[in-house]
Amino acid sequence: MIQRQIDVALGERSYPIYFGTGMTASFAPTCQLHGIPRQVVIVTDTNVAQHYLESLQKHLHHFEFEASSIILPPGETQKSLSRANAIFTALLQRRTGRKATIIALGGGVVGDLAGFVAATYQRGVTLIQVPTTLLAQVDSSVGGKVAVNHPLGKNMIGAFYQPKFVWIDGETLRTLPSREVICGLAEVAKYGVIFDAEFFAYLETNLEAIMKLDHAAVMHIQARCCELKARVVAEDERELGLRAVLNYGHTVGHALEFAGKYRALKHGEAVLLGMAAEAFIAQQMGLLSAEVLERIEAFVSRIPLEFKKETFAPSKILDAIRRDKKSVDGKTRFVLPVRLGEVRILDDVEPELIRLSLKRAFGLVGKKRSSSH
Ligand SMILES: NC(=O)c1ccc[n+]([C@@H]2O[C@H](COP(=O)([O-])OP(=O)(O)OC[C@H]3O[C@@H](n4cnc5c(N)ncnc54)[C@H](O)[C@@H]3O)[C@@H](O)[C@H]2O)c1
Ligand SMILES: [Zn+2]
Repeated sequence: MIQRQIDVALGERSYPIYFGTGMTASFAPTCQLHGIPRQVVIVTDTNVAQHYLESLQKHLHHFEFEASSIILPPGETQKSLSRANAIFTALLQRRTGRKATIIALGGGVVGDLAGFVAATYQRGVTLIQVPTTLLAQVDSSVGGKVAVNHPLGKNMIGAFYQPKFVWIDGETLRTLPSREVICGLAEVAKYGVIFDAEFFAYLETNLEAIMKLDHAAVMHIQARCCELKARVVAEDERELGLRAVLNYGHTVGHALEFAGKYRALKHGEAVLLGMAAEAFIAQQMGLLSAEVLERIEAFVSRIPLEFKKETFAPSKILDAIRRDKKSVDGKTRFVLPVRLGEVRILDDVEPELIRLSLKRAFGLVGKKRSSSH
């Protein structure tokens, strides 16, 4: 059942995000409501397919949609031009026309890849995002950034391409591994620090309920994050200004991912550490109070992270930060919190301070703190 709707206001490219649990029975009628023609192609990965593909396909057939599927292996390495090309080949072989619709059923990898294919196949076909990870439900499925990776950089080949609608069914999280739930939580906490002190306090109070996937708590965070993201995207669709604040935690986070060869740490785990490190930088530069730093660090240390700290040589991380694609005129941009709910963008952070911040963030891992906050 659809329980909530939030709209992304982008003029003629506006679209709704639907939220609920156990919503499959309403999916095809919603497609009809949006004038989706008969031919739809579901792009998904094997993990997601085993739980959700058959029921979705049957449901669509029942409503007389011609629903075929393309099933990929899971994982970030799928986000490549060669995989996109294999999908183009499959679409052409099936004589998929310009009126077809691509349904991205899966996490951010499937969403970004299938989205990229939808944006470019025959100059663009309709896209529906059906995110099935927490990360994709609170972040990547909304906003229209679609991309594949290049050997020289992540997300380097892509487009801004908005979906027709986004379908967020909380039920799909029940099969998600807990490490993936944690990754999603990083992006959730990020929204609190950047935009909304009250939301951050909600997360502090409800962290355990969220990790246990309590229905009301999950729905609250999905809706709040999407609402905040929708607002940012409506104001700055192509990331020319405001949207850049969403990169809080990501300057250090991306460098950590890179330094760990994208294997040691998952994106969300790296972002959590990045958030702690960047909060420390802000505090040391006199921008953030020690009290807020303590709250951010306490929150990060309540989330169980498991990885080998030895994998991360500080010099490698610093190198990676210098090469960041978001650097402007050779200077790396940092999004730094100035209080809960507000950040500032700066580009002159001393390497020595970055080094200290990494040490401090790694120190939080495995450290048990009281969860009274
Ligand atoms: N476009 C954007 O704005 C944006 C924003 C943030 C991140 N991203 C991208 O998102 C990607 C990461 O997305 P992700 O964290 O969702 O990873 P993912 O898509 O790799 O999913 C994580 C794992 O969970 C599995 N899975 C997915 N849904 C499941 C379910 N319901 N039950 C069981 N298993 C399930 C997947 O098969 C995969 O193994 C990265 O490539 C990142 O660049 C994009
Ligand atoms: Zn992220």
